[in-house]
Amino acid sequence: MVAARITVNGKEAPIAPAAPHTTVLDFLRERGLTGTKEGCAEGECGACSVLVARPGVNKPTDWVPVNACLVPVAALDGQEVVTSEGLATVEAPGTPPVLHPVQEEMAVRGGSQCGYCTPGFVCSMAGEYYRPDRCAHAEQGPDTGEGTDGNDGADAEHGPNGFDLHALSGNLCRCTGYRPIRDAAFAVGAPTDEDPLARRREQAPPAPVATEYRQDDSAFVRRDTLAETLRLLRERPDAVVVAGSTDWGVEVNIRSRRADCVVAVDRLPELRELRVESDHVEIGAALTLTEIERRLDGTVPLLAQLFPQFASRLIRNGATLGGNLGTGSPIGDSPPVLLALEASLVLADADGEREVPLAEYFTGYRQSVRRPGELIRAVRLPLPLSPVAAFHKIAKRRFDDISSVAVAFALDVEGGTVRKARIGLGGVAATPVRALATEAALEGRPWTSGTAEAAAEVLRGEGTPMSDHRASAGYRAAMLGQSLLKLYAQTTEAVPS
Ligand SMILES: Cc1cc2nc3c(=O)[nH]c(=O)nc-3n(C[C@H](O)[C@H](O)[C@H](O)COP(=O)(O)OP(=O)(O)OC[C@H]3O[C@@H](n4cnc5c(N)ncnc54)[C@H](O)[C@@H]3O)c2cc1C
Ligand code: FES
Ligand code: FES
Repeated sequence: MVAARITVNGKEAPIAPAAPHTTVLDFLRERGLTGTKEGCAEGECGACSVLVARPGVNKPTDWVPVNACLVPVAALDGQEVVTSEGLATVEAPGTPPVLHPVQEEMAVRGGSQCGYCTPGFVCSMAGEYYRPDRCAHAEQGPDTGEGTDGNDGADAEHGPNGFDLHALSGNLCRCTGYRPIRDAAFAVGAPTDEDPLARRREQAPPAPVATEYRQDDSAFVRRDTLAETLRLLRERPDAVVVAGSTDWGVEVNIRSRRADCVVAVDRLPELRELRVESDHVEIGAALTLTEIERRLDGTVPLLAQLFPQFASRLIRNGATLGGNLGTGSPIGDSPPVLLALEASLVLADADGEREVPLAEYFTGYRQSVRRPGELIRAVRLPLPLSPVAAFHKIAKRRFDDISSVAVAFALDVEGGTVRKARIGLGGVAATPVRALATEAALEGRPWTSGTAEAAAEVLRGEGTPMSDHRASAGYRAAMLGQSLLKLYAQTTEAVPS
């Protein structure tokens, strides 16, 4: 096997002597690329954002910003990374670098004061700058005022150049204030034909390479196929499986967890398929949430409601459904949604596959029916979908926060009667749960305020919510009831013209 290597700003470098748990952030800084900053080391601030060349959604390659503090550098064996230093170009030896358009706009619009957050902001901004659909929007030229709201789809969160401000939702700035940063984001144009990173998108991304990176007694391993990975997991049931590392990276940095053997599954082709069949949708467990969001493009409305409320774009660029379900967390955001969608999980081990309804998957706090050596290969959603669907995440902040309570609804209402109700809850028990009593209180009844109020009372009694630093038990129970009343209001109140 070839020694592990990574290409940073166009130059190849060996990963050794970094430890298998060394993050991309520490690796870059050790090599003098100190533009990439550490603010929190837990995915919350974006100061460490860098761009990685990944399989694209609309082009062969996308430049995807990720949190360098969470990803082990060994996970990027054979891959290409661009840091804030690599965005600028040197046109002739000895001349100062020419700023990248996003750096230029940040400078001239006063988007940087102390500058600590700036390299992370420009990497996240560059990711959005190169997003193909944004480029198409920017190429159409300046605002013509012909959109339905008179500004071509621009609003407080979307620029006239198609820039989606949520691309920066994982980046924090403590001193500049966000208006000049937004001004810079909304001012960038489309990349020119000569732009090397824009041209790079037209070629395939680096293929994943098998990796066996060892230092002392620990190893980071990536196999080419699912079958090889499952054989390895049979031999090493103690191994820690990682996909996007957005959970595991926090464990390593904040709780100092180490593993003798870490096995990467994020580039396994068998875990990266997405298929919409006549009777079900199958979503690979190692697709990132951003990939699922962009590839499904609203096909599953309840998932479309989930994604913007899940962490930040930076985290969603790494996070997977396999990881969210794999942790077994009772406050993960995808389980309530997937429970309402009646999802099942395709579990695979060296002996074969089995399909388990998600409602039967969790068995206790961070416990599940998944056996040692078994992986989540895919999530299956039966079709057709229930037409009335909503995901309510109750958290202290609107974006980039962990749920206090999360509720997902999927209802069939025909002729004014609730024919079927599926409700998934998070944050009210040791596991994500279905609100079975509330479902029974709704099914067969007219969809009226009386039914909604009676069912909301039942919903307040579901689960065994706890009091903790996020919310009290009473608040959690109250929010459950409010959530159903909100759904009723959303589905029945006339929208003011
Ligand atoms: C700043 C921040 C904000 C966050 N916000 C949210 C949020 O709003 N909502 C939310 O729900 N979560 C949130 N999270 C948690 C995390 O992002 C999610 O749980 C994410 O889905 C994990 O996916 P991953 O691929 O990164 O998992 P990883 O960290 O790679 O893996 C986590 C664990 O899952 C298991 N695993 C991974 N893939 C598989 C598989 N295919 N089969 C079996 N087991 C597997 C492994 O045991 C592994 O140890 C946040 C995390 C951070 C750092
Ligand atoms: S250092 Fe804060 S997100 Fe990485
Ligand atoms: S410029 Fe100082 S933290 Fe953003």
